[in-house]
Amino acid sequence: MSHNTFGHLFRVTTWGESHGPAIGCVVDGTPPGIRFSEAGIQAFLDRRRPGQSRYTTQRQEPDQVRVLSGVVPGEAEGELVATGTPIALEIQNVDQRSKDYSDIAQRYRPGHADITYDIKYGVRDHRGGGRSSARETATRVAAGAIARLVVPGLTVRAALVQIGTIAIDRSRWDWSEIDRNPFFCPDAETAKRWADHLDAVRKAGSSVGAIVEVVAEGVPAGLGAPVYGKLDADIAAGLMSINAVKGVEIGDGFEAAQLTGEDNADEIRTGPDGQPQFLSNHAGGVLGGISTGQPVVARFAVKPTSSILTPRRSIDAAGAEVDVMTKGRHDPCVGIRAVPIGEAMVACALADHYLRHRGQTGRI
Ligand SMILES: Cc1cc2nc3c(=O)[nH]c(=O)nc-3n(C[C@H](O)[C@H](O)[C@H](O)COP(=O)(O)O)c2cc1C
Repeated sequence: MSHNTFGHLFRVTTWGESHGPAIGCVVDGTPPGIRFSEAGIQAFLDRRRPGQSRYTTQRQEPDQVRVLSGVVPGEAEGELVATGTPIALEIQNVDQRSKDYSDIAQRYRPGHADITYDIKYGVRDHRGGGRSSARETATRVAAGAIARLVVPGLTVRAALVQIGTIAIDRSRWDWSEIDRNPFFCPDAETAKRWADHLDAVRKAGSSVGAIVEVVAEGVPAGLGAPVYGKLDADIAAGLMSINAVKGVEIGDGFEAAQLTGEDNADEIRTGPDGQPQFLSNHAGGVLGGISTGQPVVARFAVKPTSSILTPRRSIDAAGAEVDVMTKGRHDPCVGIRAVPIGEAMVACALADHYLRHRGQTGRI
């Protein structure tokens, strides 16, 4: 596998498999002098960690991060100062149960990457899905914690806005609700409905899809590199690279096709500070692949977990027709834990474009 790096100047290379001894990443291009701590990275990892509620997998991975390189100690307790050299981050795998996967060593789980990995490489790590497992995404969240610090004043937050057919009521959106329920849901009422719905899905051994919305505020105007490095294109690529993501929208996304030109174009005035002021944000903060200075808004659709307890028709590596029922510990809705991963990928794309914009134009 030859494409394990995301970004150009802020470059994140991830390594490791679900059932190997550890996973990790190398973050290259962090500006020297940036200050962070293992505890700060850990706080983001803890939001993605499995086994935190009955609505996510019961695997117990502490996901304890260790910073191996690229830093010197700062003055404050636990503080690390980036030296500008590669920052290596490592997370030990501690709760593998490889035996759970012996049934699928030769059988392809429908909806999973088993069949395509075999077709492509001719050899695959079936234990936990190997490199196709979303375990790899823990390292992205760790890298994202550093990326957030590269762009001064940047805030990247995400929320789950739909599970199955049940969408939130956007008029009740309250960011402070996100950490009060196990779904990163900004609408307390809908969170209660999701709890009942997911209990039923889980008891049936089934799974369900979801939609995540990411909002980045404090994004300076001017980020993005037309025409093949547009900001929205790179954000979409980052989000699409997350396991189980099947669709990405920026701003109004697919709904923009239903609007008229009058409704869709964000009108412009000059604000009290003499800067352009947009009167709406249908564009999701990006025009011509370049950030406008408004919040950057992206949404992504996550498919239902393919590993379910209902037997599904498939084939084995020899081509024989078989039924596959996936045992093991799986998330009934992987969209929930995708929320911090989406934040991380948007943060990495923004950090990369911030450095690229500064490098080319010097206008930041
Ligand atoms: C946070 C997260 C956890 C996941 N956990 C599982 C899981 O427990 N079982 C499973 O079958 N798929 C899980 N997936 C999805 C698979 O990794 C993914 O469907 C598979 O690699 C095939 O890739 P694709 O769906 O992007 O085509 C998870 C995805 C995410 C984002």
